[in-house]
Amino acid sequence: MDVRIKISWDRSLETGEPEIDDQHRELFRRIDQLLAATRDRRARTEVGRLLTFLGDYVVTHFQAEEKLMADAEYPELGPHRAEHQRFVEEYARLFEDYRADGPGPVFVIKFGNRVTAWLCEHICRTDRRFVDHLTRREER
Ligand SMILES: [Fe+2]
Repeated sequence: MDVRIKISWDRSLETGEPEIDDQHRELFRRIDQLLAATRDRRARTEVGRLLTFLGDYVVTHFQAEEKLMADAEYPELGPHRAEHQRFVEEYARLFEDYRADGPGPVFVIKFGNRVTAWLCEHICRTDRRFVDHLTRREER
């Protein structure tokens, strides 16, 4: 089975906050690298390395976002952080699937669908609410 899942950055995902947008673009780039590595059937160790790399980057990015929120006294920091946490847990589960089954088509489809759907939804809805808060603060 040949699985071709691609993820690409779309301008509609931009929040207008440069630090957040840069990190989101980097996230998409790393996901795309991972999907390309599995598509090209690169060595299991390389896919594992990219998965670890991406997981670490996700955590770094969430921490940076949460710091911005704390600095901006964002009242929804708690629920936003909880959403991040749920994703980190889901990512760990996907990593377990990978360890059990390897980078086969089932994993790629599950990973591609789950991670991209979560990110697009989170960026468009939850992150945008925070950027709206920043904009309102600046207008004050
Ligand atoms: Fe976020």
